[in-house]
Amino acid sequence: MTATIIEHTRQYIGGAWVNSTGEGVIEVRNPATEQVIAVVAKGTEDDADAAVAAAKAAQPAWARLSTSERATWLRRLQAAAAADRENLVRIIQDDVGCPTPLADHVQVGVPLANLGAFADLAETYPFDEQDTEGRWVRREPVGVVACITPWNFPLHQLVLKMAPALAAGCTVVLKPTEVTPLSALRLVELVDGIGLPPGVVNLVNGFGPVVGARLAGHPDTDMVSFTGSTAAGKRVAALAAGNVTRVALELGGKSPNIILDDADLEVAVRDGLAWCFVNSGQTCSALTRMIVPRDRLAEIEEIAARELREYRIGDPRKPGVNLGPLISDVQRERVRSYVDVAAAEGARLVACGTPADEQTGYFVPPAIFSDVTTDMRIAQEEIFGPVLAILPYDDEEQAVTIANDTVYGLAACVWSSDPDRAARVATRIRAGQVRINDGDRWPGAPFGGMKQSGLGREDGSHGLEEFLEIKAILLPKPTA
Ligand code: NAI
Ligand code: MG
Repeated sequence: MTATIIEHTRQYIGGAWVNSTGEGVIEVRNPATEQVIAVVAKGTEDDADAAVAAAKAAQPAWARLSTSERATWLRRLQAAAAADRENLVRIIQDDVGCPTPLADHVQVGVPLANLGAFADLAETYPFDEQDTEGRWVRREPVGVVACITPWNFPLHQLVLKMAPALAAGCTVVLKPTEVTPLSALRLVELVDGIGLPPGVVNLVNGFGPVVGARLAGHPDTDMVSFTGSTAAGKRVAALAAGNVTRVALELGGKSPNIILDDADLEVAVRDGLAWCFVNSGQTCSALTRMIVPRDRLAEIEEIAARELREYRIGDPRKPGVNLGPLISDVQRERVRSYVDVAAAEGARLVACGTPADEQTGYFVPPAIFSDVTTDMRIAQEEIFGPVLAILPYDDEEQAVTIANDTVYGLAACVWSSDPDRAARVATRIRAGQVRINDGDRWPGAPFGGMKQSGLGREDGSHGLEEFLEIKAILLPKPTA
């Protein structure tokens, strides 16, 4: 069976769909069927230049609109995306290969909510503050923003940049991942459909080291907001530094989940597996290191092995399946190689999921390793697949040391039946977001990394502020 291949080879620049100046296309595969489902433009540096020029031309007029006018545009886009929800869910599912509940509630539901949240923020955020002494501080849009995004939550990551940038009065050039570019294309069709002023949103498809690198190093790019691997993030920051261009970086993680000895182990371990395996482990904030009391290790392993049997891997469209394929054959090989490395370094396989029945699809069954120590590669490197490392500790002090012993600092979790003890440990973990027990994210909670997990924060008012410059206006003394 051959799928229809959608040809989507034009770029969106200055309010029009235009041909790329280059030749050739990039193939997009459905990871569950391994079939090519679409081709997109293999963009060029010239395409990137044209998009930056369009964004630069459009920016002053966009910034001059009132905040409520910009909020109205975001709400129109939200309404258009809400009306297109089923279609967006189908596109993401074909592109990313994730189960339907994740595709609907998270991959599409969260960005829909965020479009509205940033519309509201545009209207309530104090862009201009002047006190009774006449001290006046203004927050102005940073200007032209390049948004470079990855493949794991493609629409969410894009909207978390685009929506606050537009709310702030910036214009954007979107450079979605070449691996899952289809939801970004659909979003931009919706942008075109609502008649947003030309040049406010532009999209250039292509490879990172060509289009992404050109955008990051362009003298007219005022800011690069990047999400992806730490290696690519470092290159983007280096290119941006050439023009002292601002960067926001949302990078990798190796997030710890400390289970203290007074925690409800059943609940903590079950939740820990869920937060490691979400999106088949392809999540930057995945809790991939479970740090547990050594004298409860056997009990915890037994719970983990039992809970793993609840996971069903297979065709993501089938009801009850909670683990789809990995994104690509490259990613599958990468994850398999880490499973081999873990065994070779002396980690002990506690349990492994049942392989998928399907004949096609980049599936890797989930695996849980124990007796992991901090010097092992599976304790240090971002695997981006369904692999959990269990690291035993002897006392609370050592648990904190292990938790902080990586180059990353994105997310974390602490489990304890004593809220004060949990809070004490939470404050000692170097990470941008720490959850206690089943603590829930509140809407707009700042998200981002310490250490090599990134620079800056996304979401909520902190996310909006990334796209704002601060200006002090010094008023003359009043004349008597
Ligand atoms: P990547 O970091 O290469 O790609 C992310 C985005 O950056 C894409 O749009 C890509 O085109 C762009 N890019 C790549 N190189 C660039 C450059 N030199 N200049 C400008 N833009 C560039 O991620 P990739 O290769 O798809 O995945 C590799 C690994 O990265 C994964 O196995 C995973 O460990 C990690 N990753 C982490 C993510 C996170 O959310 N923390 C998301 C995706 C990947
Ligand atoms: Mg790449």
